[in-house]
Amino acid sequence: MANNLLKGKRGIIFGALNEQSIAWKVAQRAHEEGATFVLTNAPIAMRMGEINVLAKETGSEVIPADATSVEDLENLVSKSMEILGGKIDFVLHSIGMSVNVRKGRHYTNENYDWTMKGLDVSALSFHKVLQTTKKLEAMNEWGSIVALSYIAAQRVFPDYNDMADNKSYLESIARSFGYHYGVDNKVRVNTISQSPTMTTAGSGVKGFNEFINFSEQMSPLGNASALACADYCISMFSDLTKYVTMQNLYHDGGFSNTGVTQAVIDKFGE
Ligand SMILES: NC(=O)c1ccc[n+]([C@@H]2O[C@H](COP(=O)([O-])OP(=O)(O)OC[C@H]3O[C@@H](n4cnc5c(N)ncnc54)[C@H](O)[C@@H]3O)[C@@H](O)[C@H]2O)c1
Repeated sequence: MANNLLKGKRGIIFGALNEQSIAWKVAQRAHEEGATFVLTNAPIAMRMGEINVLAKETGSEVIPADATSVEDLENLVSKSMEILGGKIDFVLHSIGMSVNVRKGRHYTNENYDWTMKGLDVSALSFHKVLQTTKKLEAMNEWGSIVALSYIAAQRVFPDYNDMADNKSYLESIARSFGYHYGVDNKVRVNTISQSPTMTTAGSGVKGFNEFINFSEQMSPLGNASALACADYCISMFSDLTKYVTMQNLYHDGGFSNTGVTQAVIDKFGE
């Protein structure tokens, strides 16, 4: 299904950990659509070595960067421009982590050091990516920067814990920075709010299996897959969406606008 939508475009893709990762599918689709890009992840995530398989498959180089470190990001962005031979057209921020979730700490009993760590990794890192690319004048005009979010930013999903707050902050950054990036550099900034997806980050949430089934039944089109999310990211990186900016875009099979479905009502009649 390749249409050369990203022909000649250069990118940076954060967050491909393994084959399940949404970023992994975005990299594969971006390659199919003619883009060249650098892959990056936290140095600790490199230990598994799986990213090298993706790099080989897509002809990409890998530059480790902790997205909470401005120094790492400066190195990543400047080296990426050297490797790719010019300014950047698209960036995917596909990063999320909560220590409170990982360690099973309840939302009403947060460890605030962990909260701050999760906020830095999951949300503030997006500001750092935006600020670094802006300061280094790394983005081409009409470039597109996308981060991945979840509807727990707007509605309560109790087990999503402090990640809900992190996603609210993330979406707010897309709006606030998107204004300045638009006015100053004609660069677009958006978040895509994706259906629950079976990945390493996703399955860390308590009761995820049950929840993903509930979401499937609550979405008129069913849950959107990681590959479908990748397709949406490609469209957001392409020139076909040039005037879309500062938005939180639901990619969720209709879940966000659904009060209840017949399938869920039927369950209560059982
Ligand atoms: N899986 C879901 O259900 C779902 C739903 C909506 C949104 N999202 C979001 O999609 C994004 C990608 O997650 P995924 O589901 O593909 O899971 P994933 O676990 O494959 O990806 C998360 C990535 O974040 C990276 N990361 C963590 N700390 C980092 C740091 N300090 N610096 C750089 N990278 C770091 C990890 O190494 C990993 O590659 C996340 O923002 C997640 O919140 C996921």
